[in-house]
Order: sequence, then C-alpha cells, then structure tokens
Amino acid sequence: MTPESAERIAYLVEQLRIRNIRRHIFLCADQTKPECAPKEEGRASWKYLKKRLEELGLTRAENAIYRTKANCLRICHQGPIAVVYPEGTWYHSVTPAVLERINQEHLIEGRPVQEFVFAENPRGDSETDTADCGGGAHT
Ligand code: FES
Repeated sequence: MTPESAERIAYLVEQLRIRNIRRHIFLCADQTKPECAPKEEGRASWKYLKKRLEELGLTRAENAIYRTKANCLRICHQGPIAVVYPEGTWYHSVTPAVLERINQEHLIEGRPVQEFVFAENPRGDSETDTADCGGGAHT
C-alpha cells in the first residue's frame, strides 16, 4: 500500500468511525435477481433502515450501528433477509415494521427479535476461537 493509500484509508476509518461499530446489519435488498422478496419490498426495507438509523443517531454514535446492503444472503426465501453481527442473528420477513423492532430491541437493547429469527451463529472473540482449536497449528 502506498503512503497516500494508507493515509486515505486511515482518514476513512476515522470518518466512518469504524472503531466505534458495535453491531453490523446486512440486509438483502435491491438485488440483481430478487428471489427472497419482490425488489420493491427490499428497497423499501433498505430505505427505511437507512433513514431510521440516521434518525436514531446510531450511525455516528459511540457504539455505532453499521449497515450494508447485500445483493443476496443465499437464503432466497421468506425475505427480505437480514443478519446482525457479532451475534450472527438471521432474520426473515424483514419489512420496515420488523426493522423497527430489530432497531429498538436488538440493535439498541441487544435482545434479538426471536419471532423473526431463523438461525443464530454468534461470532466468538479470537481468544475463544484460539482456545477451541487448541491454539496450535492445524495439520
Ligand atoms: S435474494 Fe435475498 S437472500 Fe437471496
């Protein structure tokens, strides 16, 4: 990486407050090939998510919420589909009304909205991961 690139990336890390991110939500929306929900529904959910995270002040908070629009999360059924990390909580039927609950109950209060959860795969911290694999080299 050139010094100019490193400087640009460091600037973006600060601008986007990457170090402040507490949770990251990925939402399947505006897909090339909409399979899990009609394209308009995904777009409406994405638009709502962006608007509400801004309104709630969660995009620039000390413990910020990061959002990413995904082209497909490979479930392709009963969408829009979303996943929230680090909990690894997968949601189906993510309409604006469901997103509001996810915002309030999960993203802010840390309680997944079980009614719409279909899978959970929490991401562990690196110490746990190392302990689980014995901390040695894989052979
Ligand atoms: S199109 Fe939404 S999960 Fe594949």
